[in-house]
Amino acid sequence: MSAGKQGDALCFFINGKKVTENHADPETMLLAFLRQKMKLTGTKYGCGGGGCGACTVMVSRYQPATKSIIHYSANACLLPLCQLHGAAVTTVEGIGSTKTRIHPVQERIAKAHGSQCGFCTPGMVMSTYALLRNKPQPTMDDITQALAGNLCRCTGYRPIVEGCRTFCQEANCCQANGAANCCLNGEKNGDEPEQEKPQLFDKLDLLPLDPTQELIFPPELILMADTTSPQTLTFHGERVTWVSPVSLEELIQLKAKHPKAPLVMGNTNIGPDMKFKGILHPLIISPTRVKGLFEVSQTPQGVWVGAGCSLSELHSVLEKLVPQFPEEKTEVFRALNRQLGNLGSVQIRNVASLGGNIVSAYPNSDLNPILAAGNCKVSVISSGGRREVPLNQDFFVGFGKVILQPEEIVLSVFIPFSRKGEFVQALRHAPRKEASFATVTAGMRVMFSESSRVVQDVSIYYGGMGPTTVSAAKTCQAIIRRPWDDETLGQAYDILLEELALPPSAPGGKVEFRRSLTLSLLFKFYLEVLHKLKAMNVITDEVPEKIQPLPRDIQPGLQEFQPVSKDQSNHDAVGRPMMHRSAISQATGEAVYCDDLPKIEGELFLMVVTSSRPHAKITGLDVSEALQLPGVVDVITTKDIPGKKVRTFCGYNEELLAESEVSCIGQMICAVVADTKAHAKRGAAAVKISYEDLPDPIFTIEEAVEKSSYFEPRRLLQRGDVTEAFKTVDKVYEGEIRIGGQEHFYMETQSMLVVPVGEEMEFNVYISTQWPTLIQDAVAETLNIASNRVTCHVKRVGGAFGGKVTRTSVLASITSVAAWKTNRAVRCVLERGEDMLITGGRHPTLGKYKVGFMNDGKIVAADFQFFANSGNTVDESPLVAEKMVLHMDTAYNIPNLRGRGTACKTNLPSNTAFRGFGVPQGLLIVENMINDVAMVLGCPADKIREMNMYRGPSTTHYKFEFNPENLLRCWEECKRRSDYSARRGAIEQFNEQNRWKKRGISIIPIKYGIAFSDGFLNQAAALVHIYKDGSVLVSHGGTEMGQGVHTKMQQIASRELHIPPSKIYISETSTNTVPNTCPSAASFGTDANGMAVKDACQILYQRLEPIRKKNPKGTWESWANKAFMEKISLSATGFYKGPDLYVDWDKMEGQPYAYYTYGVSCSEVELDCLTGEYRTLRTDIVVDIGKSVNPSVDMGQIEGAFMQGLGLYTLEELKFSPFGLLYTRGPSQYKVPAVCDVPLQFNVYLLPDSDNPYAIYSSKGIGEPTLFLGSSVFFAIKDAVAAARSDSGLKGPFSLNSPATPERACLASASPFTQKVPASKPGSFKPWALDI
Ligand SMILES: Cc1cc2nc3c(=O)[nH]c(=O)nc-3n(C[C@H](O)[C@H](O)[C@H](O)COP(=O)(O)OP(=O)(O)OC[C@H]3O[C@@H](n4cnc5c(N)ncnc54)[C@H](O)[C@@H]3O)c2cc1C
Ligand code: FES
Ligand code: FES
Repeated sequence: MSAGKQGDALCFFINGKKVTENHADPETMLLAFLRQKMKLTGTKYGCGGGGCGACTVMVSRYQPATKSIIHYSANACLLPLCQLHGAAVTTVEGIGSTKTRIHPVQERIAKAHGSQCGFCTPGMVMSTYALLRNKPQPTMDDITQALAGNLCRCTGYRPIVEGCRTFCQEANCCQANGAANCCLNGEKNGDEPEQEKPQLFDKLDLLPLDPTQELIFPPELILMADTTSPQTLTFHGERVTWVSPVSLEELIQLKAKHPKAPLVMGNTNIGPDMKFKGILHPLIISPTRVKGLFEVSQTPQGVWVGAGCSLSELHSVLEKLVPQFPEEKTEVFRALNRQLGNLGSVQIRNVASLGGNIVSAYPNSDLNPILAAGNCKVSVISSGGRREVPLNQDFFVGFGKVILQPEEIVLSVFIPFSRKGEFVQALRHAPRKEASFATVTAGMRVMFSESSRVVQDVSIYYGGMGPTTVSAAKTCQAIIRRPWDDETLGQAYDILLEELALPPSAPGGKVEFRRSLTLSLLFKFYLEVLHKLKAMNVITDEVPEKIQPLPRDIQPGLQEFQPVSKDQSNHDAVGRPMMHRSAISQATGEAVYCDDLPKIEGELFLMVVTSSRPHAKITGLDVSEALQLPGVVDVITTKDIPGKKVRTFCGYNEELLAESEVSCIGQMICAVVADTKAHAKRGAAAVKISYEDLPDPIFTIEEAVEKSSYFEPRRLLQRGDVTEAFKTVDKVYEGEIRIGGQEHFYMETQSMLVVPVGEEMEFNVYISTQWPTLIQDAVAETLNIASNRVTCHVKRVGGAFGGKVTRTSVLASITSVAAWKTNRAVRCVLERGEDMLITGGRHPTLGKYKVGFMNDGKIVAADFQFFANSGNTVDESPLVAEKMVLHMDTAYNIPNLRGRGTACKTNLPSNTAFRGFGVPQGLLIVENMINDVAMVLGCPADKIREMNMYRGPSTTHYKFEFNPENLLRCWEECKRRSDYSARRGAIEQFNEQNRWKKRGISIIPIKYGIAFSDGFLNQAAALVHIYKDGSVLVSHGGTEMGQGVHTKMQQIASRELHIPPSKIYISETSTNTVPNTCPSAASFGTDANGMAVKDACQILYQRLEPIRKKNPKGTWESWANKAFMEKISLSATGFYKGPDLYVDWDKMEGQPYAYYTYGVSCSEVELDCLTGEYRTLRTDIVVDIGKSVNPSVDMGQIEGAFMQGLGLYTLEELKFSPFGLLYTRGPSQYKVPAVCDVPLQFNVYLLPDSDNPYAIYSSKGIGEPTLFLGSSVFFAIKDAVAAARSDSGLKGPFSLNSPATPERACLASASPFTQKVPASKPGSFKPWALDI
């Protein structure tokens, strides 16, 4: 079976239009089909593996048996095109558009400010839309569930949730600050009357949801299903054939004939395998139309559920059954349902099948342990007949392997009723609370003799403790026939530890944690059952406290800002919340991102080939096989580069493509260009590179320090006499903390399209970058042409966070060589895995400190060392390390202060700029030191912070004078708003009453310097045209990447030209309109570009003055037209020469920043000490951003940055192998915050009555500062951990590295269970992952 054969026609509908595909390729997923063939680019590619939700669509199917239509959300990236016969697909374009009418979901997410860069927005819209199609008045729980699998890197989710909340009935209540303060009770919030507080959006100004307006299911499909009997369908692709039988007999025959062919149901296992592991299945059998796999039948013993049923269907079957039976009979059903609620995302559960989950035999499957413990079995069928097989320890034989014969098909799964005296529970712990594979899962069942606590039968299974689901049989033996009490369980824990021992270098790492989880999950089950026995009066003795689940309901938060003055003109948008100017287009999918640009005739796709060695000589590069492959046009190597073969950063040269030596895994060596992405990918896989390893690669900071492997210059700043001061203090303490790196995880991966114009070496570069001029320079230098031949266009960027500057320029250079050499347009869009592997991220940092302080808490001296793991090339690393040193005083006036910043050179992919540029790492080290001082002295950390803060006119350690008044105001305001003192008292009480759950609170300040300390970068230009019809086109040097810079520029132009923002348009950022721009970075975009736009607008407004004077009653349009008639130029450039900032490192002084943005955040968490899982119960942030140009945009920056910080400090973990290979190359392994991580109450207050003479309209830069405030969650966790440790008798400072993942928090909590697990001796084994 091969390509070229005539297959069947695939017939389905997209957005109400019939699609007949005569050459459906089994390897094509719906996402590629929509984007490439249908030109429906609203549905986005974010990861390709079901982990981000950007590609969410709604699938509707008619079910002839019940004559009903079902709608469900699904990930288009995993949905095989061939599976869509008879289905109706709805994409974001299908539900509304600006040309027709926008859908209420699109409108509400946009108007609630839930769209920043907008790349996640279509997915968010479609997840919500699919929910509303099934449930027009959802609960908040429905909404958070529906959005659990949709990632957003910009907004912090709060505004998306708020937009969706407007669909809930319970939504019309403020509920802010807890139920006690509900507006519906007639009580007021705070001291101002409610009606005077300005709102971020007007809930009354929203389109109603009218379900009758939705697209109807195509009648043709109903007719087709009702009248024609289904036929076997066969589709032939280039490499794969797809057969979709309709009868069970046919399926059995097919499987007998092709036992190796997989049965593709949800494709959530096979799909990722084919995509990420390159596994090829020449034949795929798709039994989704075989009715026999979907039958559900009840027996007196339980229920048989068809193996083809999706996990969502299984959930609803069980949900319907549970209320029909006495509780004692539904223990297994309920346990399964609880587990299902946490498995993957809704999109995954809607397609993933029950049979698929069982047969996939994931080591950490959620279902298999509970199915096994619950005595479930499967009915399997093959040409040899039918048999029933119990799901027990013999069923799961290895990684991804079950005992079934290859030709056997799981027909259905039997889930039994439980019996009286039987208790069943499913437990799991995952790195992120939702939409995350579990670290450890468990299924447990215990059966008691009638009215007794003596165990008659027990069954315990774990996932995540080896290559497959495992039974804790010996442990069960130790429990059976014994009473369910502390003594029995105490012995069981010891046996369990022995029974499920993991080797210290076990794949997946976290060995101690996983082992302790097996104990603590069993303990949780033990407690749960004890409580049930007590409730049944089987036992009468006191039982320990019940462990309640962590709270999870997201309450509406407060977002407070000052209204504009009453005298401000209604036309003047400055200071008012104004929706991101593209939010609606982003929500309808019309907004165009780089990879949405239509394919150009003859266009090629570029795929890079990267090094698989950390440090080696390249001994051979053989591209001959790649060049033979279909579609492959060329392979680009360094020899092809006509101009400069390197990019120079910080004085060091970086090769664009490695020539003779590689210095990290992931370094680019060559690039394959082909007619399609698939062909380029196959070509890249066929390139053969041979290496000769070089000795002693360096991965960790310690190794780099030992070998003095640094990038110069290393920076030192100090004030006072630190060494002398240490001699005068009461106490000296030395400590250290390690902060892991962070992946940018911009939702839009690196994307670019280089188009040769065809004459005089002219090139157009369409690219997603923060710095168009750098790209222009890079392409020009690489091709050895003048900059005036290269025009760089940036329409919008789907998130950047610092990651689309230097790394993008290297990729653009390579892509331009391919375009130049082939003389064809070349597109390069990195896959998520490649992006994560190649482009680096935030610098992992090791901080060491010595602090000297008095017994009253006054810090007299501090000495810091900051080591940043920079990777293999310099990039901007010395500048990052330098910024740590510049910010090390943060809010504190430490009279004797010294700090050294060092960029370490290692054999890992080069790290680069990331929002905050070193400050988030540096300041965590400083605040950790403060915490240690507090712990040594046994007093609350906020006291130490407060006591040591700058007060009155102050001077920094680089001799810069400033007034910290607003910092102190933020501090006081945050304490007041968060009710800090009272809550600290309540937390202490909570902690006394709870042994296994602890709460913690912290309050953290920031003083963040704005602008580039390299003074020349503080400049900007703008170009403003007024057209004859009065419409205005603004161009400026800033790129729109979600931060709302275009919206703010529109507001500024509106004020200066005295016209409404609707008359002003911003099309793109391009180097041919505004040349020689600076990067959109350093939180300086609005400050710089705003001044330039203001300048240009003022020039134009003045030019129009004579005309206005002549005709004061004229309209804006009439003045514009008249000016043209009078030959007055209606175009002007504006320029801003920003401050000449500098640092004199020899003199240790300077003025590196234009001013400071201040903020303070207070967070409270609840920690489950047994698993390390936590919830942020509440966060209050007070920020001084002067007079906000746009409070909604600024709130978005504050909340988004905070959540990114929360991710950095508590969740996001990069894992490298001992050979320097990044394991975490997608959202399945690398967890960024999701909806479940939003503080349950999230309040943000902009400090009132603040001015800033140094920036436009007295505003302040805000892009980066509040990221660090996410550390308030870290320190709240640390506070909770300290309380847990204190119950174990441990006092004083302790080490908790960042991120404070559940693993770290749990181990640091030192529960009796973690203490039972013997720690492996460092050095005695090779760990699975490195601490870099
Ligand atoms: C992003 C993401 C998150 C996930 N999160 C979780 C999670 O948290 N917990 C968890 O447990 N799982 C999780 N999964 C795994 C998911 O549940 C399984 O991949 C899914 O259940 C497999 O079902 P499927 O129908 O998609 O299988 P497919 O990929 O279609 O098939 C998988 C395998 O099962 C075989 N198979 C399928 N049906 C049958 C049958 N009836 N008889 C015999 N063999 C059969 C196929 O031959 C194939 O080898 C996640 C997956 C993804 C992509
Ligand atoms: S692109 Fe489909 S889930 Fe990420
Ligand atoms: S707006 Fe959600 S990823 Fe940018």
